[in-house]
Amino acid sequence: EKAGYEHFMMKEIHEQPKAVLDTLNSVLEDGKIDLSEVGLEEESIRNIQQIYIIACGSAYHVGMAAQYVIEDLAQIPVRVELASEFRYRKMALNTNSLAVIISQSGETADSLAALRKCKENGIHTLGIVNVVGSSIAREADNVFYTLAGPEISVATTKAYSTQLIAAYTLAIQFAMVRGTITEEAYSNYISELQTLPDKICKILEDKERIQWFASKQANVKDAFFVGRGIDYAISLEGSLKMKEISYIHSEAYAAGELKHGTISLIEDGTLVIGVLTQPDLYEKTVSNMVECKSRGAYLMGLTTFGNYNIEDTADFTVYIPKTDPHFATSLAVIPLQLLGYYVSVAKGLDVDKPRNLAKSVTVE
Ligand code: F6R
Repeated sequence: EKAGYEHFMMKEIHEQPKAVLDTLNSVLEDGKIDLSEVGLEEESIRNIQQIYIIACGSAYHVGMAAQYVIEDLAQIPVRVELASEFRYRKMALNTNSLAVIISQSGETADSLAALRKCKENGIHTLGIVNVVGSSIAREADNVFYTLAGPEISVATTKAYSTQLIAAYTLAIQFAMVRGTITEEAYSNYISELQTLPDKICKILEDKERIQWFASKQANVKDAFFVGRGIDYAISLEGSLKMKEISYIHSEAYAAGELKHGTISLIEDGTLVIGVLTQPDLYEKTVSNMVECKSRGAYLMGLTTFGNYNIEDTADFTVYIPKTDPHFATSLAVIPLQLLGYYVSVAKGLDVDKPRNLAKSVTVE
């Protein structure tokens, strides 16, 4: 059942190249993105004034990454909302909007309630859902099915990765329809997406190195994941993976926020993981890492091959293959999933069923 892996989580981590490829291929036709199965009309794509992305947990982190990509490529303002907050907030909603509800299970109570709130307010809804026939899939106006297959491990990996693909393809298609990118850029983005499965495979080939690092870090008390822009979105997911299965206190910070309070927590040996996939923000985050190091932090850098000067600052570095920075989340998340996994294993914890957590949160 676990196909030779010790845990479902490891099996599902290795299923990511295929899940990503399947999801991508499901919306590609002759090298172009085709959303006709999803059901979004070009006319309605042109009229979107605002996008609300609403979700919980890791699916919310997909929304955070998607926000940067959609805003940059399609130039549509995006608000990312925690479903549990959105459903109770009394706010003026822009009805010329698209609400995107992201949910693996399609049964998360808060996400379903948020979807219903949008519909009651006349907002068009799109579900990005993994489970066919689930409540969110049934009630949303349109559905983009992720093809991750069944996910057993409580900590999501492959569903998260396929949700990212859904978000990227929406961003690229919205941009094309609205004329905010050239045809050449459009083709280049699609070609780049097609390279992701192989690049994920490459990262997985190096997992022993992460395992070694995880065994050294298994006893740390606190970990901080820092980054800017898309790297902040990646940090949020890396931090959640760490805390939920390894029970290490961990936080994600937008790197520029450190000096507004959090840096007082940095002391000798505190683990700080800097995520550095965005070229235009690289130097900024490195300087924040240097500030942590001078207060005693132990630094891991997560960056792209070529950025070798990170070794002047970081104590340990993990490199990922180059990709278009918009899509870096898909690669950078893999070592962070592995890190959470191997720390959990090193501590002898129940990786697939962490304490206090359920796979599907159907009560609020
Ligand atoms: C974390 C995790 C959760 C889910 C969240 C939403 O690894 O799996 O944070 O992402 O509970 O679940 P779905 O996507 O089913 O709505």
